[in-house]
Amino acid sequence: MRTPIIAGNWKMNKNPQETQEFLEAIKGKLPESGVEAIIGAPAIDLNALTWFSKDEPLKTAAENCYFEDAGAFTGETSPKALSDMGLDYVIIGHSERRQYFGETDEDINKKAHAILKNNMLPIICCGETLEQREAGKAEEWVTGQIENAVKGISADDLAKSVIAYEPIWAIGTGKTATADQAQEMVHVIREKIASLYDADTADKVRILYGGSVKPANVKELMSKEDIDGGLVGGASMDPESFLALVNFQK
Ligand code: 13P
Repeated sequence: MRTPIIAGNWKMNKNPQETQEFLEAIKGKLPESGVEAIIGAPAIDLNALTWFSKDEPLKTAAENCYFEDAGAFTGETSPKALSDMGLDYVIIGHSERRQYFGETDEDINKKAHAILKNNMLPIICCGETLEQREAGKAEEWVTGQIENAVKGISADDLAKSVIAYEPIWAIGTGKTATADQAQEMVHVIREKIASLYDADTADKVRILYGGSVKPANVKELMSKEDIDGGLVGGASMDPESFLALVNFQK
């Protein structure tokens, strides 16, 4: 049984004060079991999140890190430091990082190794553009991204990791992939994992859908066999909306 995940990705939003206010608003209201609630936040907000998560059923994610533990890398965030702080996950390979910051599949693979070495888990993002989808190249593109991202990762480590399928055309556009479209690609990703590893690993890895997930559509997406959760941008930033998402089973 794969435990469902609702993971917020605040992107470059909220300062530490706003983070504190959000956490006050959700305090004592997160489900104790049945779902893993995660917030991914900017580096400057992570201290508040990790303190909060000591007493509350919330897991924490950084939105990026570097692949070296320390050194002369001005402006980067150390995966070791994130781990020392108590972070659980790091989101890597988000399409915004690929598009605006030139992140390559190779960088993402190195980051995945660094995150696992530091006893955290990667949330590995993948997804196609509208152009690629319309050209019938979406599956080939997305499975290629996954194959490159997981190179050299053991089956045990991958089974604990998380993959997020986020079609670029559905991010921040209000245009959600239909639940069937999302299920179809998430299933293709799971089959790819089965072919690269084995059926058991494919059965264990949790695969999320992301792209305009909101309280109104989360239930239908979550009803699909292969979809284990959502990676949520806009709708994760308001406490009431985040609570509605994590309570999708109710
Ligand atoms: P939205 O939920 O705002 O479409 O963002 C999706 C996303 O990019 C999450 O990582």
